[in-house]
Amino acid sequence: MGVLNTLAQGIGKKYFGSATDNPEFTDSAYMAILESSEFGQITPGNSMKWDATEPEQNTFTFSGGDAVVAIANSTGKIVRGHNLVWQSQLPSWVSDSNFTADELTSVIQNHISNVVGTNYIIGYAWDVVNEPFNSDGTFVSDVFYNTLGSDFISIALNAAHAADPDAKLCINDYGIEGSGTKSTAMQNLVQTLKANSVPIDCIGFESHFILGEIPSDLQSNMEAFTALGVDVQITELDIRMELPETADLLDQQKSDYETVIAACAAVSGCVGMTVWDFTDKYSWVPSTFSGYGAACPYDSNLVKKPAFDGIVAGL
Ligand code: XIL
Repeated sequence: MGVLNTLAQGIGKKYFGSATDNPEFTDSAYMAILESSEFGQITPGNSMKWDATEPEQNTFTFSGGDAVVAIANSTGKIVRGHNLVWQSQLPSWVSDSNFTADELTSVIQNHISNVVGTNYIIGYAWDVVNEPFNSDGTFVSDVFYNTLGSDFISIALNAAHAADPDAKLCINDYGIEGSGTKSTAMQNLVQTLKANSVPIDCIGFESHFILGEIPSDLQSNMEAFTALGVDVQITELDIRMELPETADLLDQQKSDYETVIAACAAVSGCVGMTVWDFTDKYSWVPSTFSGYGAACPYDSNLVKKPAFDGIVAGL
């Protein structure tokens, strides 16, 4: 009997969830936990990204995402669709293209109307735009920004709204969890979108944290966003440590997980939280951040770590 989703809903949150994806679906011990009542929400780690869904122009592949949605449907979970417009995991026919502004607008609209509109009517939320900002608050210089300026964001949000009027539409980023230049840039973007009646419902705080470096103003920074009329979601939580792990580090991690979860718990507009996979067995951290790992609440043998108790304490 799982506790995380139940506890989250008990304090008025919509869900407690985890990332997952197809390569893990053959691991029956993993699936027993994923499909249990521990989690009320899942996010596909990769299978709904542009390179997976539209590898060639107007040729769509939905099987990976469909498998994630099928698991959610059969186990009563909601899905956060992830993601529609991002400079990374973007096929070269888009990233290296010389599309005009009009052409790229059509490419974005066609991608979104197909991915959102015809297949993944997922009933909850989409990360429509992923990671639009640099750490200094300027826009990432990618094909979208370089061709369309910041208009690519409203083009994508409007297209997603047209494709699924009921879905919550989010912009998701990292480095916006504490106050600062990047968080301010995101808040300014939210205000501009709202002033122009562009549909924007939520901001994803990715929350890929380093042990001992949880922003001290996480809660007040969430409140700064919710005051603008958007929900906040913790979308990709993990807390990595420099390996090897020790009992002391795992204890610190427990406390850090509690701090993050308690911040969301305290903010009514922080509606849900998702770990970027629940187990170290399938974490993206070791292959991405050299020398770091052990970032998740279950270890690589699928045994709960002190971090799991930290989450429970925060809920
Ligand atoms: C990561 C996946 O977990 C990896 O499997 C993949 O190789 C790279 O992308 N921010 C995001 C996620 O929004 O999509 C990223 O997921 C992690 C960082």
